[in-house]
Amino acid sequence: MLARARHLLNDYAGYSTRNHMMRRHRTLTVAACVWLNLTGCTGQAPADRSPAPARPSKAAHVSRAPFGKIPDGTSVEIFTITSTAGMEVRTMPYGAIVVSVRVPDRSGRVADVSLGFDNFDDYIVKKPPYFGVVAGRYANRIAKGRFTLDGKTYRLATNDGPNHLHGGVMGFDKLLWHAEPFERDGTAGVVYTLTSHDGDEGYPGTVTATVTYTVSVSNALTVDYYGTTDRATPVNLTQHTYFNLAGEGAGDILGHMLTIDADRFTPVDNTLIPTGTLAPVEHTAFDFRSPTAIGARIEADDVQLHRGAGYDHNFVLNGTGLHHAARLADPVSGRTLDVSTTEPGLQFYTGNFLDSTITGKAGHVYARRGALCLETQHFPDSPNHPNFPSTIVRPGTPYTSRTVFAFGIADPISAR
Ligand code: GLA
Repeated sequence: MLARARHLLNDYAGYSTRNHMMRRHRTLTVAACVWLNLTGCTGQAPADRSPAPARPSKAAHVSRAPFGKIPDGTSVEIFTITSTAGMEVRTMPYGAIVVSVRVPDRSGRVADVSLGFDNFDDYIVKKPPYFGVVAGRYANRIAKGRFTLDGKTYRLATNDGPNHLHGGVMGFDKLLWHAEPFERDGTAGVVYTLTSHDGDEGYPGTVTATVTYTVSVSNALTVDYYGTTDRATPVNLTQHTYFNLAGEGAGDILGHMLTIDADRFTPVDNTLIPTGTLAPVEHTAFDFRSPTAIGARIEADDVQLHRGAGYDHNFVLNGTGLHHAARLADPVSGRTLDVSTTEPGLQFYTGNFLDSTITGKAGHVYARRGALCLETQHFPDSPNHPNFPSTIVRPGTPYTSRTVFAFGIADPISAR
């Protein structure tokens, strides 16, 4: 844990301690709020595929507008973060959801590359499979919703067959976070904070979690996670955006080229729980060490691909510190996405459970393999696998994690 914290803190040049950083955050957040009140709100994003509005005076900017109400009547806002390089991210405090990610293609056409809805109510009524959310307290699965920590066995809510998935019935994805927008040093974003109480979904300890989305002028979305607890507990957070670099609703992702910097992956049983083995990817359909079309081997005769009828596996990333994890490229549009992270694992999920029953933005029907997730995280079911990197957070040793989603453009030849 200490090593993890140290890695992340090293990435913040100029910040001597995390407390210092939080204080600085608060000061800047207040400044951002004052600024926002002076400038007012710009409302919702423009229609799909139109160019993002140019904002020549600032590198990145955040505005706020009403979006909807959760069932108890509490209002939910939507924050629109734009960069002058043409990226626009919209996010809301319900589930700390990334609602849209709009980036240009090689001819400058902007499209939303993330699955979701135009209206707030659809996020509640349509019960989407974690579109854009922050999953927690423990992203991915814990076998049979059970683990033993410091000699005590805990039972968690089971919401995925026999297993616990993405924090349970009322995971972090279904809670309303506190939101503070900010602008600083040419970047803009939102800080979300949530308190998860002792006993929620069966977890021990009260956890305070912070997720910060930052958009920079280089068209990168940085996600910083921070958490403290008053009792030992597993914590594993991830960002669960479904990407399609051709644009949401624009067909399947089988032609996207993918590179994953992983020599090994964690094979699973038929309920998608890791067996505990770290298996080499070499000579398997899981070898993405050089750019490979996602569809090239997805139907290969490999029992692992039959488990979830496609890729739904954790890859053991090679790097340490803030390291490159994956590169996704759509040869048609030229859009690319590079994912870097401090996490040891990456869940690569090919939207196997999407089944055309959900109609999303602009009336698009979300079909099987119509998008993919690149979920940076610790390995699934780590609390039950002593050989996996530990996910246990203890009082006095905060949870820290960082992931960067950097968007770019490649020409047709080198779209990889
Ligand atoms: C993660 C899981 C998948 C699935 C999706 C949501 O990616 O690994 O098995 O549960 O979330 O549908």
